[in-house]
Amino acid sequence: MSEPTIEVYENEDRTFAPSAEFTAQANTNDRSLYEEAEADYEAFWARQARELLTWDQDFTEILDWQLPFAKWFADGKLNVSANCLDRHVDAGLGDKVAYYWEGEPGDKITLTYAQLLTEVKKFANVMKGLGLEKGDRVAIYMPMILELPIAMLACTRIGVAHSVIFGGFSADAIVDRCVDADAKLIITADAGYRRGAPALLKPTVDAALEIGAPSVENVIVANRCDTDPAMTEGRDHWWHELMAAASDDCPAEPMDAEQLLYLLYTSGTTAKPKGIMHTTGGYLTQVAFTHKYVFDLKPETDIYWCAADIGWVTGHSYIVYGPLANGCTSVMYEGTPDTPGKDRLWDIAERYGVTQLYTAPTAIRMFMKWGTQEVEKHDLSKLRVLGTVGEPINPEAWMWYHEHIGGENTPIVDTWWQTETGANMITPLPGVTTTKPGSATHPIPGVFMELVDDAGNTVETGGGYLTISRPWPSMLRGIWGNEERYRETYWSTYEGKYFAGDGAKLDDDGYLWLLGRVDDVMNVSGHRISTTEVESALVDHPAVAEAAVVGGTDDITGQAIIGYVILRGTHEASVALGDEIREHVGVKLGKIARPKTVIIVPDLPKTRSGKIMRRLLRDVADGNKLGDTTTLADPAVVAAIADGAASSDED
Ligand code: WTA
Repeated sequence: MSEPTIEVYENEDRTFAPSAEFTAQANTNDRSLYEEAEADYEAFWARQARELLTWDQDFTEILDWQLPFAKWFADGKLNVSANCLDRHVDAGLGDKVAYYWEGEPGDKITLTYAQLLTEVKKFANVMKGLGLEKGDRVAIYMPMILELPIAMLACTRIGVAHSVIFGGFSADAIVDRCVDADAKLIITADAGYRRGAPALLKPTVDAALEIGAPSVENVIVANRCDTDPAMTEGRDHWWHELMAAASDDCPAEPMDAEQLLYLLYTSGTTAKPKGIMHTTGGYLTQVAFTHKYVFDLKPETDIYWCAADIGWVTGHSYIVYGPLANGCTSVMYEGTPDTPGKDRLWDIAERYGVTQLYTAPTAIRMFMKWGTQEVEKHDLSKLRVLGTVGEPINPEAWMWYHEHIGGENTPIVDTWWQTETGANMITPLPGVTTTKPGSATHPIPGVFMELVDDAGNTVETGGGYLTISRPWPSMLRGIWGNEERYRETYWSTYEGKYFAGDGAKLDDDGYLWLLGRVDDVMNVSGHRISTTEVESALVDHPAVAEAAVVGGTDDITGQAIIGYVILRGTHEASVALGDEIREHVGVKLGKIARPKTVIIVPDLPKTRSGKIMRRLLRDVADGNKLGDTTTLADPAVVAAIADGAASSDED
């Protein structure tokens, strides 16, 4: 295992206790939830499941734990869309706003709970009409438009599992995911607005189906940008045409608590992404619980905004399922934070009176770079809780968020979790926890984590590997179609414990500091990208003989992808060829995985046993302040690589 790449903030001793004013009104403001969960965590989660959700059939068994397979509330029955929609409408909240949606060009839609329910019922009928049945899988490849949560919720209504594919992914990525999941349907849009222009999606779906995903029988296309895409007769259908003919009568079917809710593919240490499986009852319990207590949600008055993309787990849990289960009003935004101006987020936050904002450290660092004048144009005084997620937050960014967005009196919740964990796992509770800038603080009530050393011994203070020692309701239920890989990836490193893949440190006060991944997974702008996956895409280019990829340090994105390549015999090194190789990765995997820099080198440093010395390559990358380009190995790089190769005992 490699060492964590993020520095440890040894001297961080600033602390921020919640204000008396905040504590007085907080959903929880003492240690009672922790104590309750400590005493009997199963009973604690059962209470949350019953209080936060509505069950068609109550459960008698809380947890069935056959390590590493968990079932929560297994004989209970419930429907996710009924919990997110029908029960609020039945309680008289039909006119309450579910989403204030804003398109990048400035168009706006206000969607109430009653309207959302009608759309969901109709779209569920559309899918039934195309032959979809309980247990089937559908792929969703969409921009941030309201049709996306509508499609997801319609799936849950009839027991179809969705697999949302981030709109920045490539045709190959769509093929891999559809083939792996045997998806019968792809739901997409012609395009979505990004930086003032339509970013096309439907042509990418066409390209994917050209490559081949034989299970896909139909494609539904929402018309967002009027780009007039090619439509294949018999296979492609317009969303609005199908919806115009659909009935809005569609009862929610009670599902087993362990019914598959969704697959979400994420990068691991091998080239093939893993289909992380989440199920119904436990998942919804923990997302609803964390959304209520971590964000101190007051559904009657709050305007909550998670500024993530639904293509990632943060959007699944904290734009769709958590907020809707709790009946709250959310803001949803389609576009980029710098269009039309660099104050777009603050403009939206002011206009809707946003009370909770949930974003990522990479975004905060970008806002810092853009300067406080963008923020000062707007009144952000309604903000009550600020969240961050996706990567370790450096204390400078934390302090900037605290001062310039939070006005120095708004609690910050730094939430550590993963696609696999489904919901927040380590985070302050804003009315309880005294925070330290850069520390995610403590596991939430009902979650039990341990730091261990190489031998698996518990670490009380100091550095170690992060593990989870007891099952939790929203835990992944496996990797789709690959039980062995599930055991191997998460449960084989430390006996009986879930290995998260992150390094962490416990300070003398018992605060956890996350230090980044310890495996071959990079974290670029909070997105997980596998070094192996990028290496495979590099060597897929005909000019490349061998490639090594490392995550270099980047001031804005946290890590940046640096690819070192050796060319095949007859190819001449040139900047143009390097750029072509970079683009090739962009096409193979999607733009987010395109290396920031490709360095063409004569050789790669290897240990005697033939392993590439990534540490050295990372140091070389960090020492050279690389830009957004191709670099032909400069003499310093060659020398460093040669030095490394000469002293090749490092492993
Ligand atoms: C990292 C995103 C430090 C971590 C929800 C984890 C974090 C990976 C934090 C999961 C945080 C996420 N502090 N690191 N607050 N949140 N990470 O699956 O390395 O996209 O393993 O889920 O992001 O990324 P994923």
